Amino acid sequence: MAINPAPDYDNIGIKYEHTFAHDKGLLNFVKTSLELLPPDASVLDIGSGTGKPVSDTVVASGRKLYGIDLSPAMIELCRKQVPGGTFELVNILEFTPKEQFNAAFAVFSMFGFTREEMNEMARKWSEWIVPGGYLLIGTMAADDFPTKPHMLDEDGLCARGIEHTFMGKRIANLLYTKKGWESLLREVGFEVVGTEMVPFQPPAEAECDNEPHYYITARKAS
Ligand SMILES: C[S@@+](CC[C@H](N)C(=O)[O-])C[C@H]1O[C@@H](n2cnc3c(N)ncnc32)[C@H](O)[C@@H]1O
Repeated sequence: MAINPAPDYDNIGIKYEHTFAHDKGLLNFVKTSLELLPPDASVLDIGSGTGKPVSDTVVASGRKLYGIDLSPAMIELCRKQVPGGTFELVNILEFTPKEQFNAAFAVFSMFGFTREEMNEMARKWSEWIVPGGYLLIGTMAADDFPTKPHMLDEDGLCARGIEHTFMGKRIANLLYTKKGWESLLREVGFEVVGTEMVPFQPPAEAECDNEPHYYITARKAS
């Protein structure tokens, strides 16, 4: 099967939610992450998708939610489905918040970036979050895929060209290893305080491969 460019979320829209919003591993990650935060915390949702399940769970918990996404269709869905949140149409790499947040979720929104962009994004995450605040990441790690040595960067911190079928299309991702995530986050002032890999099996009609979801809880130095 030919390799496609990054998914077109404007076309995917609500179909994404039908496939992924009931992911029990993600729902549990959001619930346990919220337990770490004060009741009046301000929370950023980076790449908020349709707003479900991350943004709407944050709003339902009574916390203040600001979501960002670069897809107009996704932002429209967020505004409709999560009226208690505030959403901005913006590229993550160009976002400049007016104030820092107590925590940020970045769930499955960091695929399709170069390593240089990931470094830049990590620096931004650190600027956006208060000292002692939390960065709550949902991703996939290179370690959980069959990789060949030539796919890994020399430092072993990330692998390129990891193929995966996502919503009927074959795509190739750059993925960090688990050690790579720890190093990326440490460089910008975060300590990884928890990780968990939870396999997710999408419904057959979604035409997606099984996904080894990797959740990272990181805390910014006080
Ligand atoms: C796989 S979906 C995940 C959505 C949501 N976080 C969730 O877990 O349900 C990825 C989302 O990230 C957004 N995204 C991808 N690259 C982005 C970028 N550079 N800036 C802003 N949003 C981006 C996409 O538009 C899409 O809505």
